[in-house]
Amino acid sequence: MDDLILKQTKAFILKRFQYDATGHDFAHMERVAKMSNYLARKENVDCFLAEMAGWLHDVTDAKLTDHPNNAEKELLEFLHTQSLTPIQINTIIDAIDTVSFRKGKKPNSIIGQVVQDADRLDAIGAIGIARAFSFGGNKNRPIYSEIPKEKELSTIQHFYDKLLLIKDKLHTDTAKQIASERHAFMEQYLNQFFKEWNLI
Ligand code: ADP
Ligand code: NI
Repeated sequence: MDDLILKQTKAFILKRFQYDATGHDFAHMERVAKMSNYLARKENVDCFLAEMAGWLHDVTDAKLTDHPNNAEKELLEFLHTQSLTPIQINTIIDAIDTVSFRKGKKPNSIIGQVVQDADRLDAIGAIGIARAFSFGGNKNRPIYSEIPKEKELSTIQHFYDKLLLIKDKLHTDTAKQIASERHAFMEQYLNQFFKEWNLI
């Protein structure tokens, strides 16, 4: 039964996020779903509910939809078409509500923590770097600049504002371990970036 629900959830998300170009495409949802499942297994919590919340974590995100209330309604309608108990639905919704970095809320359930960790892990390392430049390009932001006004808006600045801080904001030990390699890779990347920028 769980497998069927996951399959239908994947199809629901594919329809919803197929055309996104802000780093929130279907592949992001898939990576967060799989990482949520993995972290949940390592942390001894419900892998199925964690994976469900991973797939669905950006559906109601205010910046990805013009109508967050409609998105919330659509999500609830979808969940009610599945063979889930009210407690399972509540757990999924509660986890999703606390995922966003910008909302800055602290997840009160371990499943919320797992999904928030999985989402944040996807913002760092090689994939995180790719997503940041994709997001910046989509918003017409400069890669980097030495002109203060442009520098502030640049994608390189985003590393210092957010990406390099992520490793210290994670909840689970498993995510912290995964983050350490990804963090070191971003530091190495920035060193190389500035080496090339300042070459002549
Ligand atoms: P969330 O994953 O919680 O929805 P965001 O929408 O802030 O958080 O981030 C989604 C992706 O877009 C991340 O990979 C993030 O690094 C990137 N991103 C967000 N804001 C910026 C920005 N100002 N410049 C470059 N990349 C950004
Ligand atoms: Ni996300």
